[in-house]
Amino acid sequence: MKIRPTQKLRGEINLPGDKSISHRAALFAALATGETRIENFATSADCASTLSCLEQLGVEIKRENSTVVIKGVGKTGFQKSENPLDCGNSGTTMRLLAGILAAQNFDSVLTGDESLSKRPMRRVIEPLAQMNASIEAAENHAPLKIFGNNPLKSVFFEPKIASAQVKSCVLLAGLNSDGKTSVLEKTPTRDHTERMLRWFGVATEESDADNGRLITVSGDAELRAKDLLIPSDVSSAAFFLVAAACLDGSEIVLPNVGLNPTRNAVVEVLKDFGAEIEILNLRETGNEPAGELRISGKGNLRSRLSSNVLRGKIIANLIDEIPILAVFGTQIEGGLEIREASELRVKESDRIKSVVENLRKMNATVEEFEDGFRVEKSRLKGAKVQSFGDHRIAMAFAVAALFAEGETEIEDAECAAVSFPAFFEILQSVAK
Ligand code: S3P
Repeated sequence: MKIRPTQKLRGEINLPGDKSISHRAALFAALATGETRIENFATSADCASTLSCLEQLGVEIKRENSTVVIKGVGKTGFQKSENPLDCGNSGTTMRLLAGILAAQNFDSVLTGDESLSKRPMRRVIEPLAQMNASIEAAENHAPLKIFGNNPLKSVFFEPKIASAQVKSCVLLAGLNSDGKTSVLEKTPTRDHTERMLRWFGVATEESDADNGRLITVSGDAELRAKDLLIPSDVSSAAFFLVAAACLDGSEIVLPNVGLNPTRNAVVEVLKDFGAEIEILNLRETGNEPAGELRISGKGNLRSRLSSNVLRGKIIANLIDEIPILAVFGTQIEGGLEIREASELRVKESDRIKSVVENLRKMNATVEEFEDGFRVEKSRLKGAKVQSFGDHRIAMAFAVAALFAEGETEIEDAECAAVSFPAFFEILQSVAK
């Protein structure tokens, strides 16, 4: 993909449905009794992986554009798949399905692509083993062989890392356990699972303890089908927010964007750095807050805070937006430093390395740390960069290309389809 700089972005963009929420909507609709109609289901390849795994497990699914209708089979009504279940590039599919499959009365195998096969799975294997599940995985990597017919015991689990996927895996297994399963989160992570469980009629117990947030589900809970509309993906919005914020004269409108407080720190951070973002028409859809984002570009951005360093609990809230924030850092006075973000090293690519390498190729001044990086305000120059097979890297550097002098070429840019198949088309349509 070759991209040339642009003056500004203008237009209204209907972004695809949220990827994290769509995965959960599909999985929970399958676990429910009755039929669920899901509107604005993510167009992402990752969510298509979730749907095809569910179909292989005997779930009937009708899909027309962004509407998906799922006939629930109940918590243990899945059928054994004769073939391995291919989760593609999707960590969410693999980790959440592991929690569901550990409780079925048949064996399953979960596989993934090259990137997913390198990502850490011990984080789900360990708690599931504590629950009496039996899983085989060489060096704790996919493929995961999950043995059925092991009645699950309830557990009290305190994850060592902040991960919504791990929390969700344990809560899903907990739905089929012999009692009450609790997860104590020291650092809050996206709470789409908790919200979606309530939407499907499951009364989760949630409380703020001194040492974190406690979430409890009961093994006898039942899910009931309920139609829903998925808000658009704030992580996809982030690319356009950053591009518009930095290009003077830009005006972009993004309707119906998910604004879950455990997920939307990127919007607050951009505002803290002087971006003009207005939120209109705030409402709830499928238990998730959503609203229209309007952004006006001004250029000349600088922090309104005392520091240009992001670290601590906010990192989990904007973990997927860090690649695009790195690009943002090249455009703001004083640059940007990200720390305590070593989770980035085990995402679809090593995102610290991917970002640092590409930014350097584009003439930015960057320092790499084990747990993050520091980028200075820099004059970007067009270059040949890599996506590293990582959708968010491909899209972040498409935005960097808009600010650069000369042309930028992104190798293997098609991987953007993992979360946002129409990204380049839409970017071109709003670049003026
Ligand atoms: C996700 C959680 C995050 C995020 C991923 C989607 C989810 O991963 O990076 O893109 O849908 O639960 P972790 O929970 O592993 O941090």
